[in-house]
Amino acid sequence: MIHISFVGCGGMAAHYLGVYRDLPWVRVVNCIDALPEAAQQAAATIPGALASTDFSDALRPEIDSVIISSPNHLHYPQAIAAIGAGKHVLLQKPVAPNMAEAQAIADAAALSPRTCGLYMSYFDQPLIHDLRDMVREGRLGEIVHCYARLMHKGGMMWSRQALEGHGNWRGSVAQTGGGCFIQLAVHYIHIFEWATGARVTRASAFTRNLHCPGLEGEDLATAICELDTGAMLTLDAAWCTNGEELSLHGTQGRFTYRDQKLALCSSLGPFTGRVVQYTGGLVPQFGGFWGEEQQAEIKPPAFADIANPLNQHLQFLEAVRDGRPAPVSIASGVRDLRVVTAIYESARTGRAVECA
Ligand SMILES: NC(=O)c1ccc[n+]([C@@H]2O[C@H](COP(=O)([O-])OP(=O)(O)OC[C@H]3O[C@@H](n4cnc5c(N)ncnc54)[C@H](O)[C@@H]3O)[C@@H](O)[C@H]2O)c1
Repeated sequence: MIHISFVGCGGMAAHYLGVYRDLPWVRVVNCIDALPEAAQQAAATIPGALASTDFSDALRPEIDSVIISSPNHLHYPQAIAAIGAGKHVLLQKPVAPNMAEAQAIADAAALSPRTCGLYMSYFDQPLIHDLRDMVREGRLGEIVHCYARLMHKGGMMWSRQALEGHGNWRGSVAQTGGGCFIQLAVHYIHIFEWATGARVTRASAFTRNLHCPGLEGEDLATAICELDTGAMLTLDAAWCTNGEELSLHGTQGRFTYRDQKLALCSSLGPFTGRVVQYTGGLVPQFGGFWGEEQQAEIKPPAFADIANPLNQHLQFLEAVRDGRPAPVSIASGVRDLRVVTAIYESARTGRAVECA
């Protein structure tokens, strides 16, 4: 039996508490939040779980693993304390609001004999793993361009609340690390570097705050990055409009996912993945032939679906049980933050910034 403490019981934690409730070899001992009602609400969903407002309850001897879903600025003190107390730790992205704290967490995790990892929600999705397989098998040819857009209007709501005197941590650059870009685009930096094996080497970006006067950080950001393969990466993020897309373009095909619809072309024949079923076919195109575009509806799995073998919480718990490293390392999240930092520096200075 793995004994769990949940730290931070807000919006995100509510999505995946069910994983911990439903696995018979896992027991949630306590749910901890600074707000008593949030802790009580979470604990009420899990038989036997206690509610607490005291973080030190996560460090009690009977706890094996600490799941940290608190605001970004609390990741450093809470993760360092939990790792130091010999706990397995799963930490929400981004690792921390700044590089120094993120690196310190990764260093502590590297020295720990326990399983310490980062929660990256998109890895729950079979489609993302199919994408990586296609890229790594060369099904799209040489990747020349990656694109992602993640935008929602949460910023306008938080801004309004802040102006009415009810601000939250997302309005503070010190607590968040920035604005919409660090919160949203960080997923895609991770996905593209992981799927292509390429690294961002240089970043150029613009950020603005157009519609969220109650927030310190940006509500709109565009970054253009060079990869070490010579390919380009464009990332758009916003907290003042709505939209989501992920695309990769290669010399032999392209992959576009938008509004739960996949459009795929490959001139290299069929591909069968976990959810992708591409049957192949060629159409004449400028300069020769090109893979026929095929479209499919792809529904992402629910956050708390324990029947999904790719569920990141399930995989973390299995790694704890089996004494293996976590599926996503904290160090890989530090890498994401290095790119985010270069992007913010470029937006601040108005010049392209090298990214080691
Ligand atoms: N797709 C994703 O993976 C995804 C999506 C959203 C948020 N997140 C990340 O999850 C984390 C939490 O985000 P959220 O959307 O749940 O925010 P939230 O504001 O909804 O929840 C945060 C919770 O932490 C609590 N909290 C504040 N101080 C605390 C303390 N000292 N100890 C314990 N709890 C405390 C708050 O009361 C709140 O209930 C952030 O790091 C965020 O970046 C990830």
